Amino acid sequence: MQYLPDKIRPDARHIIRAASRIVVLTGAGVSAESGVPTFRGDGGLWKSCRAEDLATPEAFARDPRLVWEWYAWRREIVARCSANAAHHAIAKLAATHPETLIVTQNVDGLHSEAAAALGEPGSAPAMPLELHGSLFVIRCTRCAWRRPHREPIDATLHDTLPRCESCGALARPAVVWFGELLNQTELERAFDAARAADVCLVVGTSAVVQPAASIALATLEGGGAIVEVNPTETPLSPHALVSLRDRAALALPDMLL
Ligand code: OAD
Repeated sequence: MQYLPDKIRPDARHIIRAASRIVVLTGAGVSAESGVPTFRGDGGLWKSCRAEDLATPEAFARDPRLVWEWYAWRREIVARCSANAAHHAIAKLAATHPETLIVTQNVDGLHSEAAAALGEPGSAPAMPLELHGSLFVIRCTRCAWRRPHREPIDATLHDTLPRCESCGALARPAVVWFGELLNQTELERAFDAARAADVCLVVGTSAVVQPAASIALATLEGGGAIVEVNPTETPLSPHALVSLRDRAALALPDMLL
């Protein structure tokens, strides 16, 4: 980004207002004020757990009960959380600007909750592309079976873990683990939208996990701008036209509504 002195740096709200095609890329920080723990930083999930012990196919093959116990715990936390003002502001933006695509790395379902709260016809355009899957969908480890799943999980014994209702094999969370490929069709859709976007609004992500972090750079390559909302600096900050050092639930309603 070319250096702009503060006096002539455009205001985030004006940049968003002037844009017709917008990609909103979110990470764990957008849900922080809902009470969902982030992954990195103080109190982050990866401070107390090693990702490779819990969020890899190898970890699940080694000890599915332990992995399910961790996911059952996370599901319980998230089930008690609700969409916050940031999720609602983003959902309203998408409902009123049809060329908006919400792309999230989050598996908590809170963007979908905010979309559903809009009712029809706004909810469909406000539904996010969930790049890393969902905590509340399970899938078979052997066949193509999958289904939404919100029932409590009993991870006390291997025998009580959820099983595929089609072939009987062990079921697993339908989330993307380290070392696994993202859904390529969804990824292409995200990159295509980002390349064509006037603005990529990046909210609450440390931008260190690929390929998600590169989605914002695709907007730059396509001639658009990055606007970032994050209390701390990230690798995307030097590329952003505006970086707001603020919490999402405070900054976004003011910026988007
Ligand atoms: P991180 O935990 O890495 O980063 C959260 C970001 O949110 C940090 O940059 C914080 O500064 C910022 N943040 C904290 N509170 C905020 C607030 N109130 N408002 C705005 N921002 C705030 O989470 P992600 O970037 O989402 O992947 O992590 C990316 C991926 O790494 C996750 O999807 C997950 C993880 O490993 C998988 O599990 C595959």
